[in-house]
Order: sequence, then C-alpha cells, then structure tokens
Amino acid sequence: MQVHETAFVVSTYRSYHEDISKDIYARLWNNPATDALIPDILNRVSKHEAALHSLRNRFFYESLKSFFKDKNTGSLVNFGSGFSMYQFSLNNTIATIEIDKKDIVDYKKEKVDAWVKERKLPSRDIQYASIDFNHKTTDEMLTSLTPLIKKEPTFIIIEGVFFFLNRETTDKLFEVFKKLQKPGDIVGCVTYLPEVEKTEVYSRLLNYFDSNNDTNDSFSHQTIPHDYFLNINGYSLKEYTDEFELCKKYAPDQNISNKSEILNESLFLLERI
Ligand SMILES: C[S@@+](CC[C@H](N)C(=O)[O-])C[C@H]1O[C@@H](n2cnc3c(N)ncnc32)[C@H](O)[C@@H]1O
Repeated sequence: MQVHETAFVVSTYRSYHEDISKDIYARLWNNPATDALIPDILNRVSKHEAALHSLRNRFFYESLKSFFKDKNTGSLVNFGSGFSMYQFSLNNTIATIEIDKKDIVDYKKEKVDAWVKERKLPSRDIQYASIDFNHKTTDEMLTSLTPLIKKEPTFIIIEGVFFFLNRETTDKLFEVFKKLQKPGDIVGCVTYLPEVEKTEVYSRLLNYFDSNNDTNDSFSHQTIPHDYFLNINGYSLKEYTDEFELCKKYAPDQNISNKSEILNESLFLLERI
C-alpha cells in the first residue's frame, strides 16, 4: 500500500461511521479501489479500525468547533491533510490551509473545486501547499506557509502522519509550528505510544504494511513517548486523551473492554505559550 492510499482508507472509514466521525462529506472520496482494500485490513489487522479513525475525527471536530466558537476569524492549518473535510463543517469565515504531498494536494484541489461548483460542498476559503516534510528545511516550509496564513488565531492539526515520519522530521515540524503560531494558538496531534508496539494488533499492522508494500514506498514506523509532548519548546500540554477513552464517550456500542485489543492512538492538544 502506498502512503497516499492510506488517506483514502482513513476517509472511507469516516464515511462508514458518520454518526461517530460527524464527517458527512467523507463519502465523496469513496471509490471502488479503496472499498476493495478495506475488508482485508479489518480482517487482518483489527475490525475496530474504522470506528477508531472516526473517533479521531470526532475529537478534532469537537476541538475545532470549540476553539473557533465565538471567533469570527482564524485559520485551520492541516499538515498531512489527506482527504480531511473539517473546513466544510466550520463557519465560512475560517480559512483553511491544506498541506500534503503534491499528488494528494493536486487531486484534492481539483475534486473540491468541482464539488463546490456542483454545490455538493459549501464554498470555503482554502489554500493548498504541496510540501514533502522529509525534503524541505524549516526555513523553506516557513517561506511557503507564512504568506498563506492571513487569519489568526491558528489551529494546526497533524493526525495520522507521525507514524510515517522519523523523529528528525517530527522535531523539524514542531519548529515550523512554533514559528507560525502565537500564544494561545493550538496544535492537535496524534501518535502511537511505544507501549502499543508490544500489542499483537500493532504487529499485525506492521505485518500488513510489509506484506502489501508492493511499490517500495518506504516509510518509518514511528511511535512517540508521552513525555515528548511535555517537553516541546514553546508549547504546554492542554489536553490528552486516547481512542479507548473516546470510545466510551462517543461509541460505547463498539464494546472494547481492553486498550491492548485495539490500535489505540493517543491524541494531544498543545497550546503555544
Ligand atoms: C493516513 S493519511 C492521514 C490523512 C489525514 N490527516 C486524515 O487523518 O484523514 C497520511 C497523510 O500524510 C501524508 N504524508 C505522509 N508523509 C508525508 C510527508 N513526508 N510529507 C507530506 N505529507 C505526508 C500522506 O500523503 C497522507 O495524506
């Protein structure tokens, strides 16, 4: 599976559980090639994956709504945005900057522009930047992104991306975030903690990626310890949860009794200080 295919898979997961994800637009991205991949993943890795990714979306959906409530302006800056659709659920005064690899960004812009014309999506202020986080320096990223952020405050999201990056690139991105943001701004991010590496379900995930890597599209398998997020220069931890906890709140029907049964991602809200 190529990295860009993971963006289609996650979006399709959200469309399976609109009641949990609150993403009523995800279904626009559904396609037969992705539908064909999913049963094998749910079977070989974990049947809870679709609901868990929907919970992740729900957490940021609620966090964004709450952050921008009572604000008439601001920007959502989404790093590795894939086919996320948060902007269409936010007020139209909020701007969005979508950043991803060139093939994703080009495809998304073309499709979103067409769907807005066809009135399948409401019109929003969206700008796109194609950046490969591994290949650009902090300064190059800042040169591309600073002019795009015209409305403050900012809420940066990076979800479903750290797994594919190494620590050097992750550190570089937090330097970029720090320089883009002002006190009170938020970074929302997601990772697997190293504890997850001990679970059978995580081994099955790595196994799945290894056995389906027919394109040599290599990537890291990063996990990040909780402490990392307590020691980021310029940020303090505002909120921490994980999908196991979110499940109790938003999807009790999933009947998950133990954290180690699922691919449990940790979610952090960090405030720029
Ligand atoms: C699993 S998808 C998640 C997409 C979206 N954030 C979501 O949660 O639906 C991972 C995304 O990260 C992007 N990505 C991975 N490595 C990247 C890199 N080095 N530079 C830029 N984007 C990257 C992929 O292109 C893909 O869109």
